Amino acid sequence: MNIEVVTGNITTLEVDAIVNAANCGLLGGGGVDGAIHRAAGKELYEECLKLVEGLPEHRGTTGQAYLTGAGRLPCKFVIHTPGPVYRDGEHGEPQLLANCYENSLRRAEEMKCSSIAFPCISTGVYGYPKEAAAEIAIRTVRSFSPVTLEKVVFCCFEPGDEEIYRKFLNKKS
Ligand code: APR
Repeated sequence: MNIEVVTGNITTLEVDAIVNAANCGLLGGGGVDGAIHRAAGKELYEECLKLVEGLPEHRGTTGQAYLTGAGRLPCKFVIHTPGPVYRDGEHGEPQLLANCYENSLRRAEEMKCSSIAFPCISTGVYGYPKEAAAEIAIRTVRSFSPVTLEKVVFCCFEPGDEEIYRKFLNKKS
């Protein structure tokens, strides 16, 4: 599986699936969640409403990953994964963040995707330290055994994030 790092707007990427750093409400929000919903249009919101109706207590779970279509986006699927809100790293945050990456890869494989793009999950509003989050993201993707996935793109957005990912990518696994 080829791993790439880019800096850009994930809504423009022509991959099979893009991952959304969602919240447990799964109906949009700010940050990359807001950007994805704005670019995808009302159709995505309506699909998320149906998704949520079928969930216990009509909410998602941190670390889980939920697949929808992509509305007007150039990709085929959006995978919504609520990341952990960072407290101090001692409340299960590392494992929950790893679960976001692992479960998103699984959803993409279930749809026989060959490519997927991730934002820097939990490192914005949810306050996860960027270096720790990048290390978990790369370690989790590297330990995944793909069947159909050939390309994983880490789509950074903020200046400096790409260098953090490259630092961990260049480390032997
Ligand atoms: N493309 C790629 N990455 C983006 C984009 C974009 N268009 N917009 C923002 N980002 C980046 C942010 O710069 C950050 O690096 O996504 C990363 C994740 O930040 P957030 O979007 O704030 O997500 P997160 O920290 O996981 O917090 C999730 O924030 O936006 C709300 O509804 C969301 O409640 C949820 C919470």
